[in-house]
Amino acid sequence: MDNTPSPDETWAEVDRYFMDRLVSEDRALDEAISASDEAGMPSHHVAPNQGKMLHLLARMQCAESILEIGTLAGYSTIWLARALVPGGRVVSLEADREHAAVAKANIERAGVADRVEVIVGPAASSLRQLVSEEAGPFDLIFIDADKPSNPEYLKHSLELSREGTLIVADNVVRDGEVANAESDDPKVQGVRRFTDMLAEDPRVTATAIQTVGCKGYDGFAMALVTDSG
Ligand code: SAH
Ligand code: DHB
Ligand code: MG
Repeated sequence: MDNTPSPDETWAEVDRYFMDRLVSEDRALDEAISASDEAGMPSHHVAPNQGKMLHLLARMQCAESILEIGTLAGYSTIWLARALVPGGRVVSLEADREHAAVAKANIERAGVADRVEVIVGPAASSLRQLVSEEAGPFDLIFIDADKPSNPEYLKHSLELSREGTLIVADNVVRDGEVANAESDDPKVQGVRRFTDMLAEDPRVTATAIQTVGCKGYDGFAMALVTDSG
C-alpha cells in the first residue's frame, strides 16, 4: 500500500506545523469560527496563518483606517482590528444581514466592537457612499467578497486610497483556473479583469502569490498605491 500523503494532506500538515508555533488563536477567534459553522455559514474565512498575515501587513502599514469588503463572520475583521494603532478603525462591508449579525456578535466577543463598523448592504453601493462622504483614504483595503465584482471594488478602492495604501485581494487563484482565459466562471473572469486593471493602472504596483494549505489551492494579490492620481 502506498502511504505517501496526498499533496493536500501535506499542505494541511505544514499549515498545522507553522500555526502551532507562530499563530496563537485565542478563544474569541476560535469562537468566531464555531459561531460561523453553527449558523451554517460558508467556511470562506481566511485560515489562521492568513489572518495573521493580514494582521502583520496592517501593522507594517501602521494602519489607522482599514476597509474590508466581505465580512462573513468577522474572522479576518478581528485579525485586522487587533492590528490597528490606538484610535484606529475598521469599516467592513457585508451584504448578508445574517452574516453581519453573526459577525457583530463575534466582534463584540473579541473586544474590538469599539473600533469596527460593519455596514450592511451591497458593497458597491456602500463603497459609492463612502466615496461621496470622503471617508477615505484607508491605509489598507482587503477585498474578499463576491469575486465577479472585483473590478468594481478595485475602482472604488482606488478612490478611497492615498499614496502608500495597500490593497490585498483574497482568492485570486481559484485552483489555478485564473490562468484559463476560456473559463466561463464569472468569479474567474472577475479576478482576471481585476488583474488586468492592476497591470494597466499606473497608480499601482502589484504582485500575486499562490497559496496552499488547509484552505486548498488559492492565493492573494497585493497592490501598493504609488500615486493616488
Ligand atoms: N473576509 C472574511 C470572508 C468573507 S467571505 C474572512 O476571511 O473571514 C465573502 C463575504 O462576502 C460573504 O459573507 C458574503 O455574504 C459577502 N458578499 C457577497 N457578495 C457581496 C456583496 N455584493 N456585497 C457585500 N458583501 C458581499
Ligand atoms: C469563495 C470566497 C471566499 O472569500 C473564499 O475565501 C473562498 C471561496 C467563493 O466565493 O467561492
Ligand atoms: Mg476569501
